[in-house]
Amino acid sequence: MESVTIKARENGPYLIKGPVVLTDADGTPYATPGENIALCRCGGSQTKPFCDGSHRTNGFVAAERAAQP
Ligand code: FES
Repeated sequence: MESVTIKARENGPYLIKGPVVLTDADGTPYATPGENIALCRCGGSQTKPFCDGSHRTNGFVAAERAAQP
């Protein structure tokens, strides 16, 4: 089974790589452009749940890092 990776981009979206099914609150699947999608985490996208690049101009800051093992 292919694994899925979710990467929190610095000051940007969550990048999802791998075979996932993304649904709305009713369980209806979104049409996705393949196995690489970017999900908004700044709240500013006009195309939620997808990133539309608004994080670049709305001052979104999220540069946190995971704790080192
Ligand atoms: S993270 Fe890109 S528009 Fe919100």
